[in-house]
Amino acid sequence: MAVEKTYYITTPIYYVNDVPHIGHAYTTLACDVLARFKRLDGYRVHFLTGTDEHGQKVEKAAEAAGIPPKAFTDKVSVNFRELAEAMKFSNDDFIRTTEDRHLRSVQAIWKKLLDDGHIYLGSYAGWYAVRDEAFYTETELKDGPNGTKTAPSGATVEWVEEPSYFFRLSAWQDRLLEFYDRNPGFILPESRRNEVVSFVRSGLRDLSVSRTTFKWGVPVPGDDAHIMYVWLDALTNYITAVGYPDTQSEIFRTFWPADLHMVGKDILRFHAVYWPAFLMAAGLEPPRRVFAHGWWTNEGQKISKSLGNVIEPRGLVEKYGLDPVRYFLMREVPFGNDGDFSHRAMINRLNGDLANDIGNLCQRVLSMIAKNCDGRVPDPEGKEGPTDAALLARAAAMLPKLREELDTQSFHNALGTIWDVIGEANRYVDSEAPWALRKTDPARMGAVLYTLAETIRQIGLLVQPFMPDAASRILDQLSVPRNARDTAAYTAGRLVPGTALPKPEGVFPRFVAEEAGEGA
Ligand code: MSP
Repeated sequence: MAVEKTYYITTPIYYVNDVPHIGHAYTTLACDVLARFKRLDGYRVHFLTGTDEHGQKVEKAAEAAGIPPKAFTDKVSVNFRELAEAMKFSNDDFIRTTEDRHLRSVQAIWKKLLDDGHIYLGSYAGWYAVRDEAFYTETELKDGPNGTKTAPSGATVEWVEEPSYFFRLSAWQDRLLEFYDRNPGFILPESRRNEVVSFVRSGLRDLSVSRTTFKWGVPVPGDDAHIMYVWLDALTNYITAVGYPDTQSEIFRTFWPADLHMVGKDILRFHAVYWPAFLMAAGLEPPRRVFAHGWWTNEGQKISKSLGNVIEPRGLVEKYGLDPVRYFLMREVPFGNDGDFSHRAMINRLNGDLANDIGNLCQRVLSMIAKNCDGRVPDPEGKEGPTDAALLARAAAMLPKLREELDTQSFHNALGTIWDVIGEANRYVDSEAPWALRKTDPARMGAVLYTLAETIRQIGLLVQPFMPDAASRILDQLSVPRNARDTAAYTAGRLVPGTALPKPEGVFPRFVAEEAGEGA
C-alpha cells in the first residue's frame, strides 16, 4: 500500500473577549486554503481551529459583561464557529480550552514537566500586560502617555508580585538555537526567523507559568492556589486535538508533529520559542513550521475597537460576496507582509482580476461553445496546432508551481501563477479569433475552443481552494464530474469531446458602487 500523505495545520485559538474581525478571518482563511489544496492533492488533512477561553483578559471581559466566565465563553465562542461557517472554512475540528479533553491534556503536560524537573516553585515580581497575556522586563517597556510605561505592543502593563511556578526556559537556549539551525524552514518568513534567533541568542530567562491572583483557568495539579499561565494552557490545544496525552493513539501518531502552525507576527515568540521548548521538555517533537503573517490596517489606520474601525468579515461578505473577499485577502498583499484594506482596492480586484480576467474568459469561451458547438465539448478533430500546445503546456505547468508556492505559504504568488495563465488564455482568444474561424475553418474553431475549455478546466480545478463556490460553478459548466476535481484528475481527466454542457451563466458580475466616492 502507498504511504499515506498527511497534513496537520492549525490556526491560533482566538480570544473570546472580542467579536471576530478581519484579522481572525485572515489567519483561518490562509489555513483553509492550504487545507483544501492539500486535500485536493491527495493528503489526509487535519485542520484545527478554536477558541482560547481562559486567563485574566477573558475573565475581565466576562466581568464587564456581568456574566460568569463559563457562560460568557459559551456565548462568545459561538461567534467564531459562525464565522467559520460564513467563510466556508473547512476545519475538521473546533477546540475550546474549556473542554474536558483539554483539561486532561494540560494537566498531563504539566505533570510531565514537573516530574521531569522542568518546573519549580518560586515567586514572580515584574510587569504583566493583560491584553497580551505576557510578562515583560523593565528594559522591554516603552514610554507611554503621561510618563507611563507600556508593553512593546502598546498594551498597558501592571506590576505583579506573587508566588509562581517557573519553567526552566533558560536551560533551552542552546537546544533551541541548535534546533533552528537544523531546521531552516521552521520559522517563515526568513526575516521573522532572524528576529527569533537573535531574541534567543540574547539570553532566555525562566518563564513564569502560573498565577495566583485570579481564578479563571486550569488549576495546577496538586496546588490549586495556582492557575496555569494561559499561554501554556492555550499552546497545548495543538496536541490535545490529536489525542494527547494518548501519544500512542492513531490520531496522534498520524498527525503529530503538526506540519504548520499559522500565526500572526504578534504571537510568534510564544509559538517559536516557548512552545518548542515545552514540547522538547515533555519529550515530544516540535512542529515542523511556524509561519508568521502580517497585520491588516483599515484604509491606512491601525484596526482597533477604540478607533471604532474594526472590519467585520460578515459585512464584507454581504457586500462583495464570499469568493471575492477570500480572493482579495489572499491576493492583495505578499503573505507575510502587512497589508491595507480599502474598498477601492477591493473593488479594483473584483472588477479587474475577477470580472474582467477570469470572468470574461469563462463567459466568452462558454458562450461561444454554447452557440457554435451545439452546447457540447468541442472536438479538436486533429486540427491542433503549436499555439494550442503552448497554452496547454502553460496550463499543465501551473500545478507543480502551485505546490511549491503553497509549500512556502506564498498564496499571492500561487494566485499570480494562475492569473498569468488566465492572461495568456485571454490573449490566445484574441489572437486565434475563434469567432472568425466559424465560417472559414470550423474544425480549427473546434480545436481552439477545445484548448480553451481544457485550460479553463485546469484553472477551475486549481482555483477551488481559494474560491470554492466560484470554482465549482466553473467546473459544473464544463460538466466535470465531482470525482474528477482533484489533482489526480489534473492531467488524467481531460475533457471528453461531445460531452453535453449546461447553459452558461456568468461567474463574476462586475461590482457597481452604489455610493459616490466608493467607485473604482
Ligand atoms: N489567543 C491567542 C492565540 C493563542 S494560540 C495558542 C491570540 N488570540 S487573538 O484572538 O488575539 O489573535 C489571534 C490571531 O489574530 C493572531 O494570529 C493575530 O495576529 C491575528 N490578528 C489580530 N488582529 C489582526 C490584524 N489586524 N491583522 C491580521 N491579523 C491579526 O493571540
